[in-house]
Amino acid sequence: MEYLLVIIASYLIGSIPNGLIIGKNLYNVDLRQFGSKNIGATNAYRVLGPWPAFWVFLTDAAKGVAGVLLGHYLGGTALAALAGGIGAIAGHNWSVFLRFRGGRGVATGLGVIAMIAPKVTLIVFTVWAIIVYLTRYVSLASIVAAAFVPVSMWLLGAQQEFFYFGMLAALFVIVRHRPNIERLLKGSEPKIKAGEKSHT
Ligand code: G3P
Repeated sequence: MEYLLVIIASYLIGSIPNGLIIGKNLYNVDLRQFGSKNIGATNAYRVLGPWPAFWVFLTDAAKGVAGVLLGHYLGGTALAALAGGIGAIAGHNWSVFLRFRGGRGVATGLGVIAMIAPKVTLIVFTVWAIIVYLTRYVSLASIVAAAFVPVSMWLLGAQQEFFYFGMLAALFVIVRHRPNIERLLKGSEPKIKAGEKSHT
């Protein structure tokens, strides 16, 4: 019963569309109409610039942290904390407030793994940063970094439930990158550049 409660509550927290709220209320811009049309920090950076992106990133990551804490305190087990994390990522990606549309789950996922696996966070963040530096494709970096979550958990000998959580979280992130994968394959994925409020 606690698990169900944890998943529902963390899903609702994850569903809060921070990028949309920040964009619309502080900058009068609906991120769903510009750039990649995604509501995440990358598109906030692309469309609005570094500071809005920073706030979107922080508040989205906070949802992942909140999901894990909720699971931890309500359920009291590692599994409940993982369930809270997964609920938050699912809410972000398929928000109940956006008719089950949403973001890609990268910042929220990072918030989750920062809480449950700090060493893994360090590895995947390094992988992500290197790929962004070398290619300027944030989406490619996020996809590879997501795949590195279960891989690093396995390499570091994490418990089975953490490994399965990592697989599911990576899957949630990667499936939401479908439009990016299509653009990457076609060679039309834009490289990252700040503050270029344009329709594409
Ligand atoms: O974190 C999301 C990023 O990987 C891709 O964002 O806006 O380029 O689709 P975007």
